Amino acid sequence: MSDHILFYGKGGVGTSTLISNISAALVETGFKVMQVGCAPQGDSTSILNGGISVPTLADHLRKHGRISIADTVHTGFKGVECLELGDSGNGEAALEQLFEQSELSGLGEAARPDYVLYDLSGEHSLSAYHEPIRQRGAKLVYVVTNADFTSLSAVNRIYATLEHLGEARPAVPFGGLIPNGISNSFEESFVNDFAHHTKTQTLGQVPRSLMVRQCELYGKTVIEAAPLSTQAYYYRRLANQIVDQANSLKIKNQPRTLTADELRNWAREWADRLYAMENGLVSDGAAI
Ligand SMILES: Nc1ncnc2c1ncn2[C@@H]1O[C@H](COP(=O)(O)OP(=O)(O)OP(=O)(O)O)[C@@H](O)[C@H]1O
Ligand SMILES: [Mg+2]
Repeated sequence: MSDHILFYGKGGVGTSTLISNISAALVETGFKVMQVGCAPQGDSTSILNGGISVPTLADHLRKHGRISIADTVHTGFKGVECLELGDSGNGEAALEQLFEQSELSGLGEAARPDYVLYDLSGEHSLSAYHEPIRQRGAKLVYVVTNADFTSLSAVNRIYATLEHLGEARPAVPFGGLIPNGISNSFEESFVNDFAHHTKTQTLGQVPRSLMVRQCELYGKTVIEAAPLSTQAYYYRRLANQIVDQANSLKIKNQPRTLTADELRNWAREWADRLYAMENGLVSDGAAI
């Protein structure tokens, strides 16, 4: 059985880069991995394929009136299977057909990926794809964020939708909030404190690094282009933590959505802290 793992995040926070590096770290250790991009632009898996986007299932479906796993799954770095659903109208239909085909195609257990990672950045993907993937037994859900307040507000909206979706049916276990692109102790504390206030926890932490941009320009993941770098270490550690969570089956706390007032008050407290820091009323360490 494959473990289906979902990653959400506000557009632009670095979700695709992060998942691609996790996929690369997992195949490197011998797991079979499939990464499914669910965004219309179909660019989730490009750095696993030399920087080139693979054709989307939605386009294939439009052109041929049917999908075929063999025609649409592209093999990327060290055998990662890359699939792009493409724009959502056809993407949802394509996802359904994909599930049907993988059941009917007689893929032996041995040929199935150990992990299927879904890149669901953007809030539309959440409502469009969550349910079909949940029905197939989604194992864990993660939310990726940077330390911008707008991204954390989007995380709060994602939590609200997850809470709502979990009301009528069993919720997908929440693995954690993954901080990405973190460049100083303020950003680290800011995201950790948000996790604390929403009764959940962060998992791993990926620093902001120019190396990520450099590798992107080479069309590669950090794992591929800079395997011995410290940045690669952060991605590998995160991949290990995800494997541990998927194996331990320990159900974590579901996040608690903040009300609009709670979110405002929380933001204001941080504004006061930053004000105190900027004006030398407290030193950096004491303020956070
Ligand atoms: N840890 C990091 N340090 C520095 N740059 C990063 C980091 N993570 C991602 N980036 C850069 O941020 C940009 C956006 O990344 P990415 O395409 O992964 O975001 P996304 O959330 O998937 O966006 P979209 O909403 O378009 O799908 C890229 O240029 C990527 O190289
Ligand atoms: Mg993306």
